[in-house]
Amino acid sequence: MSDSNAAMDVYLTGLRNQHAVETQAIGTIQNELGRMEPYPELHAKMQEDKQRSETQAARLDELLAKHGTGKSMVKEVVTGTVATVAGFVHAGSSDEVLKNVLAAVGYKAYEIGSYKVLLTLADAAGASGDKAVLEQSMKEEQEMGDWLGSHLPSLVHAFLRQKTS
Ligand SMILES: [Fe+2]
Repeated sequence: MSDSNAAMDVYLTGLRNQHAVETQAIGTIQNELGRMEPYPELHAKMQEDKQRSETQAARLDELLAKHGTGKSMVKEVVTGTVATVAGFVHAGSSDEVLKNVLAAVGYKAYEIGSYKVLLTLADAAGASGDKAVLEQSMKEEQEMGDWLGSHLPSLVHAFLRQKTS
């Protein structure tokens, strides 16, 4: 196997993994959304993030198809790390919203990092043409990560108000 073939192999595995990460994100948001209704700003942002994740997953599907890997080859196996960070474990706890937001901060950092890895792999695999689409997804993850980071204080205050109301 030549170096660029090996890189293409790693790259395609990376695209499949990222597809699983996006699918996990969609499932997690879906699972949390109903209980985040008391926090309208967060709720709206999560809804936007869910729509964006669906678009991001579709972009990954298109890249995989372009490189000759059918959708059926996409395995939705999520690693233990991702599942833990994703926050299924927080449902029903009294400070669920804070735990969910912190999990989302971690998840976004993971996603930004993995798109950065994919951009490097795309170059190594001779698939630089894929980078514009991957960069768009990375930019969206960055935006959500920044929004969460800058809204942490106001979300804590909203949580405290809910608790005492
Ligand atoms: Fe995403």
